[in-house]
Amino acid sequence: MDTAADISNSKLSSQISNLSISASLHLLTELFPGQVCFSTSFSEEDQVILHHIVSENLPVNIFTLDTGRMFSETYSVWSATREKYGIHIKSYVPDADRLEAYVNQKGPNAFYESVENRKECCFIRKVEPLKRALAGQKIWITGIRAEHSGNRSQLNLIEWDEGNRLNKYNPLLHWNLEQVKRYISENDVPYNILHDRGFVSIGCQPCTRAIRPGEEFRAGRWWWEDADKKECGLHENTNTSMKV
Ligand code: ADX
Ligand code: SF4
Repeated sequence: MDTAADISNSKLSSQISNLSISASLHLLTELFPGQVCFSTSFSEEDQVILHHIVSENLPVNIFTLDTGRMFSETYSVWSATREKYGIHIKSYVPDADRLEAYVNQKGPNAFYESVENRKECCFIRKVEPLKRALAGQKIWITGIRAEHSGNRSQLNLIEWDEGNRLNKYNPLLHWNLEQVKRYISENDVPYNILHDRGFVSIGCQPCTRAIRPGEEFRAGRWWWEDADKKECGLHENTNTSMKV
C-alpha cells in the first residue's frame, strides 16, 4: 500500500517530468514556500544549479556544509560566487563540542586510520550539520548526477528521502559532464580551478585526489578505501537502503 510520502513523491515526479529546470524550480517554490533548500559544495553541478536559482530570483534557502577541511580553491569559488551574484550562502559548521572531542581523542587526521573513524569525521563535519540545515524543509535540491556512480544512475529526478523525511530534487540527474561544462562556459559561471588540474569530484582536501584518464568519476574520493564503503552519509536513502 502506498504511503502519503509515496503518493506526494509520485505526484511531484509526474508534475515536473516534462518541465525545464527553471519551470520545475518555480513550481516547487510555489508549492512549498520557504521550504525549498539547496545544498552546495561549489561543485560544477552545484554552480550550474545555483546559476538557475539566482537567474530566476527564486526563494530557495541556499546553504553549504563547511567542514573546515575544504580546499582553499573551494573557499575561493564560494567568495567569487558571493561577489558575482551578490547572494548570501548560509554556512553550517560542525558542532564545536563534538569536533573538539573527536580531534582531541583521535587526532586531526584519524580518518586515514579506519573506515569507522572516517565515517565519524564525516558525521561530525557533514551529516549532523546537514540535519540542522534540512530541519523544517520539504524539498532538498542536490547536484547528484546519474553518471557519478552505479547507485546514482538508478535514482529519479524526485527521490523520497525517508531518513530526512523530505523529497530530494536532482535537476541535473540526466546531464552529462560535457553539458555541465558547456553551461558553465556559456554562462560565465565561477567554477573551482581544481577541475582544470584533474580533480573531478571534489570534497574535503585530505580525502580528495585528482584522477587519471579512465578512472571512475568518484575514484579520487576516499581513494584508500574499498569502493563499496565510499559514501559519507549525506545521501543515504534509507527508503531503498541505497547509499549514493
Ligand atoms: S558526497 O556524498 O560524495 O559528499 P558529492 O560530493 O558527490 O557528495 O555531492 C553531491 C551533492 O551533495 C552536491 O551536489 C551537494 O548538493 C551535496 N553536497 C556534498 N557535499 C556538500 C557540502 N560540503 N555542502 C553542501 N552540500 C554538499
Ligand atoms: Fe572528515 Fe574527510 Fe569526511 Fe571531510 S571527507 S568530513 S575530512 S573524513
